[in-house]
Amino acid sequence: MITTLEARNIRVKLGRKEVLHGVDLTANSGKVTAIVGPNGSGKTTLLRAMTGEVPHQGEVSINGADVAQLQPWQLAAVRAVQPQSSSIAFPFTVLEIVRLGLSAGLSAADSSVPLKALATVGLAGFAGRMYLDLSGGEQQRVQLARVITQVWEPIVEETPRWLILDEPVASLDIGHQFTVMDLTRSYAARGGGVVAVMHDLNLTAMFADQVVLMEAGKVAKTGAPAEVLTDEALARTYGCAVPVNTTPPLGIPFLLPQARRDMTPHSG
Ligand SMILES: Nc1ncnc2c1ncn2[C@@H]1O[C@H](COP(=O)(O)OP(=O)(O)OP(=O)(O)O)[C@@H](O)[C@H]1O
Ligand SMILES: [Mg+2]
Repeated sequence: MITTLEARNIRVKLGRKEVLHGVDLTANSGKVTAIVGPNGSGKTTLLRAMTGEVPHQGEVSINGADVAQLQPWQLAAVRAVQPQSSSIAFPFTVLEIVRLGLSAGLSAADSSVPLKALATVGLAGFAGRMYLDLSGGEQQRVQLARVITQVWEPIVEETPRWLILDEPVASLDIGHQFTVMDLTRSYAARGGGVVAVMHDLNLTAMFADQVVLMEAGKVAKTGAPAEVLTDEALARTYGCAVPVNTTPPLGIPFLLPQARRDMTPHSG
């Protein structure tokens, strides 16, 4: 059985501009795949093409099935998507938002899942709060709770399900960044698939199995964090020199901002 999320030769035009120029990506279930790259390099567009939200050329398949041939409810049962930003204008409670994930996913889903999902993102006790009264980071975690509610069980009938997350830790403090990244690791460890757009390269190196580095609408490099996050690749793609170190004994790459500061003349 095929248990991958695959994109083949994806091209996307937005307005008159082609913003993805033939992108290939293979994510394996049981692994966390991070997509990194500068602002505007096409990460969100790639996710939106892979989830069928934006018209594209090329093929996307999920667990071997052509996404274009699946009905929306079939897709919703097998993958859940957290967009880069979600605006909600109505006065919903936190629980009402998270329950949307329950109705989007499998009809047989357990009604206790939304409260469990809120607890896993550190929001136990928030169910009755008004969503619009929450802080930015709290709102972001409510959205994640909604998404994991939709695909709560990582494997259903021997088929992996997928979390597709666009910058899931963007407005979170370091403690909650770890909570969320641990959650993605645990989802993968239990057999599910995770594809997440990330900006923090240190967190990416700590938590991702595979890194896809995008540059100007193409994939510049794919591989394990230590293969992709190199001095040369980062200098070329991001245009800034930050030396990459590694932590013994695992050899996990890390970037030390101090190293950059040492190189920059500082006035005053
Ligand atoms: N509707 C649109 N019309 C024209 N160009 C667009 C449109 N939407 C996005 N773009 C362009 O497509 C490119 C890729 O955008 P995308 O949102 O995928 O980038 P990204 O890698 O997710 O960036 P970020 O890190 O800032 O979220 C950008 O140059 C953007 O300006
Ligand atoms: Mg984006």
